[in-house]
Amino acid sequence: MKNKRTVLVTGGCGFIGANFVRLLREEYGDWRIINLDKLTYAGNLKKLQGISEGEMYRFVKGDICDGALVAELFVAEQIDTVVHFAAESHVDRSITGPADFIQTNIVGTFTLLEAARKSWDKGGTGEENNCFLHVSTDEVYGSLGSTGFFTETTAFDPRSPYSASKASSDHLVNAYFHTYGLPVRLTNCSNNYGPYQFPEKLIPLVFNNSMHGKSLPVYGDGKNVRDWLYVKDHCEAIVAVLQKGQNGQCYNIGGNNEKENLEVVTVICDILDRKLGLPESGQPRRSLITFVEDRLGHDRRYAIDASKIKDQLDWEPQVTFEAGMEKTVDWYLENQDWVREIVDGSYTKYYKQMYTV
Ligand code: NAD
Ligand code: DAU
Repeated sequence: MKNKRTVLVTGGCGFIGANFVRLLREEYGDWRIINLDKLTYAGNLKKLQGISEGEMYRFVKGDICDGALVAELFVAEQIDTVVHFAAESHVDRSITGPADFIQTNIVGTFTLLEAARKSWDKGGTGEENNCFLHVSTDEVYGSLGSTGFFTETTAFDPRSPYSASKASSDHLVNAYFHTYGLPVRLTNCSNNYGPYQFPEKLIPLVFNNSMHGKSLPVYGDGKNVRDWLYVKDHCEAIVAVLQKGQNGQCYNIGGNNEKENLEVVTVICDILDRKLGLPESGQPRRSLITFVEDRLGHDRRYAIDASKIKDQLDWEPQVTFEAGMEKTVDWYLENQDWVREIVDGSYTKYYKQMYTV
């Protein structure tokens, strides 16, 4: 297995993608990165501030659905590895507007697969270890009752337009392995948290609302369960799959941290109370919790059995939920401007300075 790679990272300006690019720059300096990102509402160049453009890192503003652009990148940059994060990722948005999810998550993945197939079929980089790693979600497996875990053989049963679009893309990726022999690998991961997450997602939303004395919306009865994984652990799992995984295989990635939503919200409130003292109201921040109407089709429980990646690739999460939440709250406290600029929309100035959009 060679050490050097030229990696096309799609969605490298998103939450997980940016953490992944940062990890590669810090720890895998001889991997060249081409970051292809459309800079949707969720993409933000400020996440990559400090990473300079040059021989080892290039940012390309573009759409994964643009077949000509993607094909040209494979040839011009001699891409040998793809780590495909780019997606519409927010379940609530998929309920109110599913079209972008179908386009990016399904058509975009198809476009990348075609470009990889055509480039690598022709000899492409001439490497035997080309790899197309598709980053997917545990949501493709549907919803669990109070017991049991998702394994790699659990039947797909997606319930939201988001998870259905991701399941479709997973099927396409597997089809390209069986039909064309494309060297693909899949990962299905649980809920990530950590630095640079867009404040529409539960954890940064609760942080931001708590800091401003706003109500903390908890859907339904707050007893839905998610398995929380610190984002750096996820990024390291992806590197392990690239380095040690097998083509045609899927790997479930989870944090062994099942928590009810209400507990997650309460933990954030309590950490803030401890670090900052009570707010002016004199009331603990958990008093801001407000039960609101449930998400349509809200999956009750996700839980990952991550024993395959542990046994075969020697990866397991390093950051406990308690330590990860402390680190995350500290990061958001130190980076309140980052959250504020997203909430007020001024973050777009970073790409407006560079591009006419
Ligand atoms: P995100 O929404 O934070 O970022 C998505 C990125 O993709 C953004 O930078 C956006 O600009 C870019 N993008 C969107 N459409 C594009 C297009 N058509 N062309 C090019 N770029 C485009 O998402 P995230 O939370 O970082 O998730 C990344 C991937 O991981 C997704 O595929 C998601 O399904 C998967 N995943 C996420 C989680 C999680 O907890 N966040 C868990 C499991 C799997
Ligand atoms: O499981 C992996 C998935 O995790 C990823 O595939 C998705 O891309 C990612 O967005 C995430 O999906 P969720 O829907 O689980 O994440 P979200 O942060 O939106 O919600 C987490 C839980 O909290 C979920 O049960 C809904 C609930 N929730 C969410 C919000 C935004 C609330 O109760 N109140 C809220 O305001």
